[in-house]
Amino acid sequence: MSQRILRNAQIVNRGQILEGDILIRNGRIERIGPSLQVSGRVEEIDLGGLLVLPGIIDDQVHFREPGMTHKAQLYTESRAAVAGGVTSFMEMPNTKPPALTQELLEKKYQTASRDSIANYSFFMGTSNDNLEEVLRTDPNTVCGIKIFMGSSTGNMLVDDRRTLDNLFSRSHMLIATHCEHEQTIHQNLARYEAEYGDDIPFTAHPEIRSHEACFLSSSTAVELAKEHGTRLHILHLTTARELELFDNQTPLTQKRITAEVCVHHLHFSDEDYPALGALIKCNPAIKSAQDREALWTGLLEDRLDIIATDHAPHTWEEKQGNYMHAPSGLPLVQHSLVLMLQKVHTGRLTLEKMVEKMCHAPADCFRIPDRGYLDEGAFTDLVVVDPSTEWTVRQEDLLYKCKWSPLEGVQMKGRVMQTYVNGELVYDRGKIVSETAGMRLAFTPLS
Ligand code: DOR
Repeated sequence: MSQRILRNAQIVNRGQILEGDILIRNGRIERIGPSLQVSGRVEEIDLGGLLVLPGIIDDQVHFREPGMTHKAQLYTESRAAVAGGVTSFMEMPNTKPPALTQELLEKKYQTASRDSIANYSFFMGTSNDNLEEVLRTDPNTVCGIKIFMGSSTGNMLVDDRRTLDNLFSRSHMLIATHCEHEQTIHQNLARYEAEYGDDIPFTAHPEIRSHEACFLSSSTAVELAKEHGTRLHILHLTTARELELFDNQTPLTQKRITAEVCVHHLHFSDEDYPALGALIKCNPAIKSAQDREALWTGLLEDRLDIIATDHAPHTWEEKQGNYMHAPSGLPLVQHSLVLMLQKVHTGRLTLEKMVEKMCHAPADCFRIPDRGYLDEGAFTDLVVVDPSTEWTVRQEDLLYKCKWSPLEGVQMKGRVMQTYVNGELVYDRGKIVSETAGMRLAFTPLS
């Protein structure tokens, strides 16, 4: 029997900060409390007052395997994840080939069981013609069904109304949507192409992938969900107006419609395009500072339930293309926690609220038992954070396969010191120290 005790921690959990110890036995949290007495052989680790948070659960990442492994792999990006305090991830189906059959989906799980240090789940993909295959998805071991109601990398657009009706009415699982209205985007793009030819400035991205495109699509998704009683989760909201679609009166565990916001949309605004251009080109686009402000309000008012990353790496060379050629997406999973810690330092949100949105809420939203909280009996997925060390994001410390970050050169206060996955220490002060801890996530099906 392996036992380990973390002593002198500031444990951030369920809206409180408690000083105490955490006893870990066989991968689970055995006990939590002040000055725990322990019998038998135990490894003692004195944390000297550092913070301990539940491991981050990121419900939206693109790790590119299979088929785009020149950009990223489950092996490389799961290492980056744990270095950033992310202990569980849910990965998107727009790989090559896309995860449109149960067989292709299971192959991703097989690769992850071999290569992922973090816990993992993979969304089942949808197209205009794979309904029966989608309906065979196992709700106990798959996080959800992903619908691209606007196309992005991998073009998995589902735009056939009958298919959408069928998916929304017949799925007994959570449906996660990317919402941007395709025709609106095409019309906007045509206007910019007519004016600028091949030379469209990156500042046009939020005009092309516009507010209207977002609202038209997300309001359609909400209408469909209300009509059919679907469990809908809308990914990466970016505009002030979309917030009116979401309720903040119902407790999260009872909501049928939930919403996610991503760290880059909470951090950057359209004022950053002149300096960062293609590096922050993503879908949906980063919008105005007013939209960003509204997203913060929506988050703090609980209209937005979850903070995630949409980690979407492309190579540096690919990102050097002009507006039409540079692909959309940016790598973030190693820095989401520290980036949000900066917002804690500046008073945007409390540590407890950050933990709610990055750890507790994803577990509740996706109905993941025994994770996302530091509770006795739960799996020991946790992250040890030094809140005051100052450091700078440097290229040589990036674990992403693509080896770049839009945050290079940015000064951070607060650092991930250790990460534990299923009780195993996997990341220790700058080093990956174990590579075999990741487990397939389990879910409680909708009743
Ligand atoms: O910017 C994005 N990139 N948004 C998405 O939804 C997909 C992602 C990707 O896979 O590159």
